Amino acid sequence: MLLNFQAIILILLFVPRSYSNCKDQKCKTTRIHGLKSSDCFNMNWKEFPKCLSSDVEVVDLSFNRIRKISRSDFQKHPHIKYLYLADNLITNIEENTFEDLDKLETLDLSLNALGKLPPTIFKLPSLKTLYLSQNTNLNLSESIQDASPISSPITKLDVSLITSENEPKDFPDFGEMIYLAKLNITGNQFNYIVPKHFAGLCNLQILDHENVTAFFKSSCDCWVLNNWLEERNVKFSKFICSVSEKDCSSHQLSEEDSKIYETCLKKLHHVQQSKFLCKIGIGVGITIGIICIIALIVIWRWRKNKIQRKHEQVKTVSYDPVENKLLNK
Ligand SMILES: *[C@@H]1O[C@H](CO)[C@@H](O)[C@H](O)[C@H]1NC(C)=O
Ligand SMILES: *[C@@H]1O[C@H](CO)[C@@H](O)[C@H](O)[C@H]1NC(C)=O
Ligand SMILES: *[C@@H]1O[C@H](CO)[C@@H](O)[C@H](O)[C@H]1NC(C)=O
Repeated sequence: MLLNFQAIILILLFVPRSYSNCKDQKCKTTRIHGLKSSDCFNMNWKEFPKCLSSDVEVVDLSFNRIRKISRSDFQKHPHIKYLYLADNLITNIEENTFEDLDKLETLDLSLNALGKLPPTIFKLPSLKTLYLSQNTNLNLSESIQDASPISSPITKLDVSLITSENEPKDFPDFGEMIYLAKLNITGNQFNYIVPKHFAGLCNLQILDHENVTAFFKSSCDCWVLNNWLEERNVKFSKFICSVSEKDCSSHQLSEEDSKIYETCLKKLHHVQQSKFLCKIGIGVGITIGIICIIALIVIWRWRKNKIQRKHEQVKTVSYDPVENKLLNK
């Protein structure tokens, strides 16, 4: 009894205190498409909120004043799928920051002051969409080089407006990214572009390069790239070339670039095929499961009937008190 009393006192002492740590709880908890979400948009946050629910899946921290994010912020929230950190003051992200976010699918780091990205971003196992727009200090080439080969299944990459005026940067050598379908490089100044930059992007479907200024190492590469991307059915506006197409009629895609592209395509088809087979496998599995269940029900009913029939047979041999003998109906 005394122990219980002490326990109650303890609870009374400690529970309110742990709540008071969470006075800063002001993000709105909602559900978006069935996902548990915390809406912390434009709330003058200076650090990652401490009191989000541990099973939160969507976190919108856009338009705040966060300078630093670290692994401890995310260790408590391993289920985050969508993380929006656009328009903050983040300058640096440590190597292990996102290490626990195996489920992270969308990461928005637009409008920050990032200089370099940790290679681990490009290794996130579920990452599909990455926004890096308007980080004018970003040395993307270096970040990508350190991460190469990129293993995240990124399908959409926005690296628009990451160069400042009159400070052209190297075009990032993405290498092989078999999933990449949408690439936005709008508003950048690059030193030069070569067809090879697009050789490992064999799934590319949309290329937005509005207002990009870049030289082509060889002026005819401009036509080689235009024709190649067109052949691949990429949606893009043609690069404006400094030479006429006729003057470049003898120029063709290099064998090396063609090889890189073919290797990428093979891997892409392989992945698509295994996905297809996996779907068929699941379909077959479900069908077999249903058949098994039906068979079990049929067997079960059949046995039940059999037992019932046996009972009836037993019942039919009964005693007739009037005639004082056993009847066999
Ligand atoms: C980016 O990093 C690379 C490799 O470290 C370096 O050579 C290059 O000068 C850097 N670019 C800028 C614009 O700082
Ligand atoms: C590419 O980025 C620019 C600038 O951020 C944006 O205005 C444009 O809508 C983007 N394009 C696509 C296809 O998303
Ligand atoms: C491209 O440049 C023009 C002229 O500077 C500007 O009006 C337009 O908004 C730019 N487009 C994008 C997507 O930045």
